Amino acid sequence: MNVYDSARMGEALALGGYAAAQAPEEADLIILNTCHIREKAAEKVYSEIGRLKKLKEKNKNIILAVAGCVAQAEGEEMLNRAPILDLVFGPQNFQTLPNMLDELQTRRRQHIKGGIVQTAFPAAEKFNALKSMPRKPLSRQPTAFITIQEGCDKFCSFCVVPYTRGAEISRPADDIEREARALIAKGVCEITLLGQNVNAWYDARAAFGLAGLLKRLAKIDGLARLRFTTSHPRDMNDELIAAYGELPKLMPYLHLPVQSGSDRILQAMNRQYTSADYLRLIEQIRLVRPDIALSSDFIVGFPGESEEDFAATLDLLREVEYAQAYSFKYSPRPGTPAAEKEQIDDAIKTERLYRLQALLTKQQTAFNQAQKGKTLPVLFEKLGKKQGQMTGRSPYLQPVHVMIAESIRNSRDLCGQILPVHIEKCHANSLSGALVG
Ligand code: 5AD
Ligand code: SF4
Repeated sequence: MNVYDSARMGEALALGGYAAAQAPEEADLIILNTCHIREKAAEKVYSEIGRLKKLKEKNKNIILAVAGCVAQAEGEEMLNRAPILDLVFGPQNFQTLPNMLDELQTRRRQHIKGGIVQTAFPAAEKFNALKSMPRKPLSRQPTAFITIQEGCDKFCSFCVVPYTRGAEISRPADDIEREARALIAKGVCEITLLGQNVNAWYDARAAFGLAGLLKRLAKIDGLARLRFTTSHPRDMNDELIAAYGELPKLMPYLHLPVQSGSDRILQAMNRQYTSADYLRLIEQIRLVRPDIALSSDFIVGFPGESEEDFAATLDLLREVEYAQAYSFKYSPRPGTPAAEKEQIDDAIKTERLYRLQALLTKQQTAFNQAQKGKTLPVLFEKLGKKQGQMTGRSPYLQPVHVMIAESIRNSRDLCGQILPVHIEKCHANSLSGALVG
């Protein structure tokens, strides 16, 4: 979501004459778009500001901004801790970036000191503004994100998102379709719909949810692939599950965070499902799309997690067999209920994370190995790291590296094309193979 927000900020700035710099040393304006989900992510911001301070000491005209959820959570406090900052604005405020920059220039002319802070929650206003901001991708990319939903009303007891991104809000279907069509007209052929709770998306006027939206977007010529992320198990309704069997453009990959396999911990997390509910969903999805690749998020060391609770998580993993997953040590976030509870020793968290990740790596490797010998449609996205190589994605989101003969490279631009690739090798996080035919 921050990648999407950053892209939109770039597009808004381009309208005002800005162009992307290649390095901070060359920039007039530097925006750090930040994440507050775990403490580590938030701390990185201050060390980065420390580095950028040196640039600003050399050139006072540089504008230094912090955007995103750290800015939202800390607001004025950021200016106290880092007075070198000129702008601090939350994730619901970036549409006013050109105005903030104008105001800053006026202030500078009048020698008014101090930075500007904007952390109100005008989410509906932002979505409205996005409508009139033309999508002008700064680089030619066959894949694109569209934020369709933001915020969260679920209040999982570990999570800061409902406080930083605000209440759940959906963009209207017409606006999303317009943005999709603009991207497709520019050569985009894969769209990933984004939202903190993307499957809670709902258009009250059109009276349909995410399944209806996917069906509508799948009708657009030129669009080859659709994805969405991140979903909550509670909103994985029958219609959406059925869509996996009905829409060939909907890619067979689902990120469905479970967080824990222990019902006791799931309840303490306020997730509002049991591990059996989750497993039932997986079974239903596999029934309509047997080749679906599954991904998840896990938290280890949530307050009160016993060895038995952790063992239940490992059991769930074995039951599901994930194609890939993200896993984290629980990180207490100020203001969230779980942060008030007695905390688990960090050494225990580290050890559990290690065991969990060892099993996940095994599963991911097995999933990748299973592709060997198959022919997969690969959407080519960019040049690979090696000379003569191109990199794309399989339907299961695996990066696939392919050496392309010079004669083909010279005669055709493969970027944005979906071509069959015979998978020959499996690496830690990617596959490689050869073009068929
Ligand atoms: N500590 C650790 N991980 C967290 N996540 C969210 N909040 C926390 C936290 N306080 C993880 C969840 C979520 C993912 C985006 O980040 O697993 O699904
Ligand atoms: Fe955070 Fe997701 Fe829970 Fe919302 S549903 S509170 S975004 S973890």
